[in-house]
Amino acid sequence: MLQLDFHPTGRHFLQIPGPSPVPDRILRAMSLPTIDHRGPEFGALGLKLLAGIREIFETQHPVAIYPASGTGAWEAALVNTMSPGDHVLMYETGHFASLWARMAKKLGLSTEVLAWQGSDPVLPHAPSWRRGIDADLIEQRLRQDGEHRIRAVCVVHNETSTGVTSDIAAVRRAIDAARHPALLMVDTISGLASAEYRHDAWGVDVTISGSQKGLMLPPGISFNALSPRALEASKSARLPRSFFAWDEIVEMNQGGYWPYTPSTNLLYGLHEALDMIRAEGLPNVFARHQRWAAGVRAAVSAWGLPIQCADPAVYSPVLTGVVLPEGVDADAVRKLIHERFDLSLGTGLGKVKGRMFRIGHLGDSNDLTLLATLAGCEMGLKLAGVALQGSGVQAAMDHFASHPAPAAGR
Ligand SMILES: Cc1ncc(COP(=O)(O)O)c(C=O)c1O
Repeated sequence: MLQLDFHPTGRHFLQIPGPSPVPDRILRAMSLPTIDHRGPEFGALGLKLLAGIREIFETQHPVAIYPASGTGAWEAALVNTMSPGDHVLMYETGHFASLWARMAKKLGLSTEVLAWQGSDPVLPHAPSWRRGIDADLIEQRLRQDGEHRIRAVCVVHNETSTGVTSDIAAVRRAIDAARHPALLMVDTISGLASAEYRHDAWGVDVTISGSQKGLMLPPGISFNALSPRALEASKSARLPRSFFAWDEIVEMNQGGYWPYTPSTNLLYGLHEALDMIRAEGLPNVFARHQRWAAGVRAAVSAWGLPIQCADPAVYSPVLTGVVLPEGVDADAVRKLIHERFDLSLGTGLGKVKGRMFRIGHLGDSNDLTLLATLAGCEMGLKLAGVALQGSGVQAAMDHFASHPAPAAGR
């Protein structure tokens, strides 16, 4: 038996913005016996999953499912559509956008990274890490590119390092207004099945996502939702690819199979997750996360601490970044909270390391688990000597009590 050094009583509070807490129902589904991935039962399961996952991306087109983490799906999007030296336009919303740009460079692409250049009093060294994508900047840059050297615009929908959810429809409008043929590639690794997302309606060519966030699964599978233009581009793209190549996957998927051994038990989990999400209805799933997020933000505001996202129009429904006063080491506070209360919070990444922590409000949660999370944060902040203006827990209780969930306590 696997033995982990957990606290002896109660459940660990996994309140990082993914992996998110996995519902027992999904864990149970994953414990079923592994079956032959070339047998008839598997083919039937595969077809069901491939149809079901399209509903989540809101697409009529193929979705490739990889036995890989989200990083693999980032790579898949680039290697299937681009050729060596192709120029890609990216936008720095935070750590994950920066990592994707770094990967593009490593793959031999020419990268150009836009960023919001205004000044910010809270995080002067990272102003673009507090705001969503400015689609006008993208439009201006594309208008300058009369020769159409830019082959793709790559953006992150829900920036997990900051708690900002950008307006992807606005990015599409910017590309169209500039009459530019670049492909639009969007990372919604932490947005899928928790923040509204429409692959077809927003004219996205490749959407990248992963299992361990809104889908409430453990890490290990990831996705590329495709458009007909992306599939067309893949026919002439020349970056080397094999494991990630869409053509073989899409072909084998016709029968519900994969060209190699898929993650069978994670796919059982996906089957269960799709059932759960369908039963609740995607609009209700989005509303549930928005409601949780508003309660958590009420707490942070009551503490008198800045929310990392400076623009209420793009607050993330999935996570909230909490910026600590200058001189307080946010990672030391997180460590204390973990040791004292068995609660894991997200660390500050990259440019904001040590300055903030992240509270995930996704996955198998409810009002009371979130209140307990906020209680852990509040106790830890006080123990660390951070001066708080008021009780965040009280503010969140007031919020949840005065904004009842539509059904079944969610
Ligand atoms: C927005 C975003 N992009 C990419 C990744 C990388 O995904 P993975 O860690 O599954 O490889 C993450 C992981 O948290 C993410 O949140």
